[in-house]
Amino acid sequence: MAKNILLVHCSPRMGGNSSRLADEFERGATEAGNTVTRISVGNARIGGCKACEYCFKHEGECCQKDDMQELYPLLHQADVIVYATPMYYYNFPAQMRAFQDRMFCGIAKPFGISQTALLLCFEDKDATTCEPALASFDVAANYCKQEVLGKVIVNNVYEKGAIEGNPGLEEAYELGKSIS
Ligand SMILES: Cc1cc2nc3c(=O)[nH]c(=O)nc-3n(C[C@H](O)[C@H](O)[C@H](O)COP(=O)(O)O)c2cc1C
Repeated sequence: MAKNILLVHCSPRMGGNSSRLADEFERGATEAGNTVTRISVGNARIGGCKACEYCFKHEGECCQKDDMQELYPLLHQADVIVYATPMYYYNFPAQMRAFQDRMFCGIAKPFGISQTALLLCFEDKDATTCEPALASFDVAANYCKQEVLGKVIVNNVYEKGAIEGNPGLEEAYELGKSIS
């Protein structure tokens, strides 16, 4: 059955390497008949969770009236969430982490997201340097009861455009195409 996929691009650099991974994933997932809603949090105004638990007393509503408010309805519509992101400081960018922390109100009003995937790019020639980030992704998915559909990992790309010709683009397309 076709899925509602929320594709979350997490880099502030538009048209960069993770954006290209998102393009190819979106192309495959759309061809497979899914509905893909692409959002960009890299330049959004999203504060960190304040741990105030306002959401617990207000049916999942967050007290912070920032760009996240437009994204909550999309989170509630999604079956699958896919992150396209660079690695920053051996982890995920602060923009992505703020977005994820603000999903805390999903405890009060649960999202129906049951699957996830990761498209990750970074500069290091040593591909193993992303392992701590991957482990973090996996334990968080497990906590959220989200099946991990796949991960596309592209290292040794720094400059915008460096990813062109990389097999990771095809892998992102195939991952999108495999979702149905
Ligand atoms: C603030 C910042 C931190 C970064 N930290 C790392 C890092 O820890 N390891 C790494 O391999 N690359 C790191 N990079 C490089 C990016 O991951 C790399 O350029 C990536 O391809 C950028 O993706 P984008 O074009 O989608 O923005 C960093 C880049 C920036 C701007």
